[in-house]
Amino acid sequence: MPKVLAIESSCDETACAVVDDLRVRSSVVRSQIDIHARFGGVVPELASRHHLGAITPVIRASLEDAGTRLADLDAIAVTEGPGLVGALLVGVQAARGLALGSGLPLFGVHHLEGHLFSALLDPPDDAGAAGHVVPRHVALLVSGGHTELVEVLGLGRYRLLGATRDDAAGEAFDKGAKLLGLGYPGGPVIDRLAAQGDPRAHAFPRSMIDRDGFEFSFSGLKTALLVHVQQRGQPSTLAALADVCAAYQAAIVDVLVRKARRAVRHCGLDRLHVVGGVAANRGLREAALAAGDADGFTVVVPPLRYCGDNAAMIGAAAAARVAAGVAPSVELHTSLAIDEERQRLP
Ligand code: KG4
Ligand code: ZN
Repeated sequence: MPKVLAIESSCDETACAVVDDLRVRSSVVRSQIDIHARFGGVVPELASRHHLGAITPVIRASLEDAGTRLADLDAIAVTEGPGLVGALLVGVQAARGLALGSGLPLFGVHHLEGHLFSALLDPPDDAGAAGHVVPRHVALLVSGGHTELVEVLGLGRYRLLGATRDDAAGEAFDKGAKLLGLGYPGGPVIDRLAAQGDPRAHAFPRSMIDRDGFEFSFSGLKTALLVHVQQRGQPSTLAALADVCAAYQAAIVDVLVRKARRAVRHCGLDRLHVVGGVAANRGLREAALAAGDADGFTVVVPPLRYCGDNAAMIGAAAAARVAAGVAPSVELHTSLAIDEERQRLP
C-alpha cells in the first residue's frame, strides 16, 4: 500500500495531501478564489506569487493532519501539467526539493489523470482487491479548462474520445455568470440559482447535440446568452434570474449527458465517472445518475471535496504507479493531452 505525499498547484489552488493507496489521510486545499474574483478570472502572475507563499504551510499542515513524517512515505507526487507554467513550477520545485532532501522517488502526474483518480478515492471498506484496480469506464471530465470524454482502459491507458472545440463547460458557466453580473467563479452561483428556476423558461441552443462523435462546443451558448441579455435586458427579479440560470445550465448539462451516454454505449461499457470541478454541479450529477438508471450503467461522481482541484487525486494516481512498479519521472509541461505518448505505460 504505497503511501504518497502529493502536491497540486496547476491553477488557483495550492494543495497537498497524504494518501495511503486510494485512502486519503489528509487533504489540504488553500484556494485563491478571493484573490482572483475581483479580476473576473485567474491572473497567472498573482497565482504564482500566492502559491509561493502558501506551499510550505500547506505541505506542513498536510503532514500534520495525516500524523506522518516524510520518513514514513514511499514517494512524492506532483502535478507536472497541464496548467499555468509559473503555478506549476512552484509545486514541481517544492516537490523536487522534498524528494531530494528525503531520498524518496518523485512521480509527475498529469492533472487530468488526477481528476480521473478522484472518482476512486476512499473506496468502500468492502471493495477489497477491486479497490486497487482502475476499472474500465468512460470518464466525462469537466473542469474550468477541459471538457473531454475519455475511455479509461486501465492505469495510464486513456483513449480520448472527444473534447471541446472551444470553451470548456466550466468556462461556459464562468462566462455566463460574468455576463449576468454574478461574479467568479460562476459555476457554483449558477448551480445555486438554477435550483430555484425553471429550465424550460428559455430555449438555449444545444450545440452539436445530434452530431455523431464526441466533440463539444459551448461558445455559441455564451453568445446566445449575450443576445438574450441584449434583447431583453438583465433579469430584473430573482425569479427571472433563476429561470435564466436554470435554462442556461440545462443547455450545458443536456449536451454533456447526452454525449456521455452515447460514449458509454459506443465503448460497450457499463460505467460512467463524472469528474472535474463541474462534476460538483447538482443538475449534472442528477442528470448523469438518471441516465445511468435509464440505460443500466453505473455512475460514479466523487464527493464534492474531490471534484475541484485537490492533491489527494494526484497522490492516488502516483500510488497506482508505485504499486505497478513504474519508474519515477517528472517533466513539467503546459499542454500535453492525456493520451499523449509520455503518459502511456508499457
Ligand atoms: O477542476 P477545477 O477545480 O479546476 C480546473 O482544473 O479547471 O474546475 C473549476 C471549474 C470552474 O469553471 C467552476 O466554475 C466550475 O469548475 N464549477 C462548477 C461548480 N463548481 C465549480 N460548475 C458548475 N457547477 C458547480 N457547482
Ligand atoms: Zn482541475
